[in-house]
Amino acid sequence: MSGKTAIVMENIKKVYKMGETELHALKGISLTIKNGEMVAIMGSSGSGKSTMLNIMGCLDKPTGGTYYLDDEDVSQLDKDQLAAIRSKRIGFIFQGFNLLGNVSVLANTQLPMIYAGVGKTEMINKAREALDWVGLSEYINHNPGQMSGGQQQRVAISRALVNNPSLILADEPTGALDSKTSIEIIAVIQKLNIEKGITVVIVTHDKDIALYCRRLINIKDGKLIGDTPVLDQRNAAKDLAALAQERGFGS
Ligand SMILES: Nc1ncnc2c1ncn2[C@@H]1O[C@H](COP(=O)(O)OP(=O)(O)OP(=O)(O)O)[C@@H](O)[C@H]1O
Ligand SMILES: [Mg+2]
Repeated sequence: MSGKTAIVMENIKKVYKMGETELHALKGISLTIKNGEMVAIMGSSGSGKSTMLNIMGCLDKPTGGTYYLDDEDVSQLDKDQLAAIRSKRIGFIFQGFNLLGNVSVLANTQLPMIYAGVGKTEMINKAREALDWVGLSEYINHNPGQMSGGQQQRVAISRALVNNPSLILADEPTGALDSKTSIEIIAVIQKLNIEKGITVVIVTHDKDIALYCRRLINIKDGKLIGDTPVLDQRNAAKDLAALAQERGFGS
């Protein structure tokens, strides 16, 4: 892993203009996230979480302030430059999975590599490897439409990790899942962080999910109002094992 700092935001502002009205979604956010951290962002609806994540992921540009990704100022880059950075260095996971429903799981996982211009054989091998890693090697020819929510989110995770990103950004990754499936998904994300050393930032409404991270950032009305370590980070694999045992004894 490089000695670079994953994320530095300095006084980041975002103003949405809609006709005459201006909406100040981010009002000067400053924060640093080091390589290998696993961070949760919480805050009520409309507080600016997704706006912040989209800027972190180079999906959108700030209207003020400076954003350094891996020590490089990316706040002035144009659309194509941002797209190139995204496809090489960043993986995204969304609440609604954002998969193509009527093509295979393998094809879904290959998508980011098409944008990155990877050759066909390498693309298939890497997609299989990523699907294997999330435990879906038996499902490569299924269509996401035939799979459970938890399985679909695993496909999305395999797609996010297939280009070996240094940063994974997840916007409410468990928002559409029941509580046990949520822990299964957070277990895969924790594994990404621990085994692959990937920096992870997760937006969540769920305090229980935030406790699987090592640091908790709170935002309110576009401002950072809290930034605290999670003193007793939960281990999702352990919690799943405990759940399985409980259910085993129960039946
Ligand atoms: N493209 C846009 N155009 C105009 N206003 C926007 C746009 N995107 C977001 N906003 C506004 O910016 C503010 C912050 O939105 P954002 O989506 O970042 O909130 P959030 O914290 O992710 O909320 P939620 O928990 O509901 O997802 C809100 O007031 C929202 O209405
Ligand atoms: Mg949001």
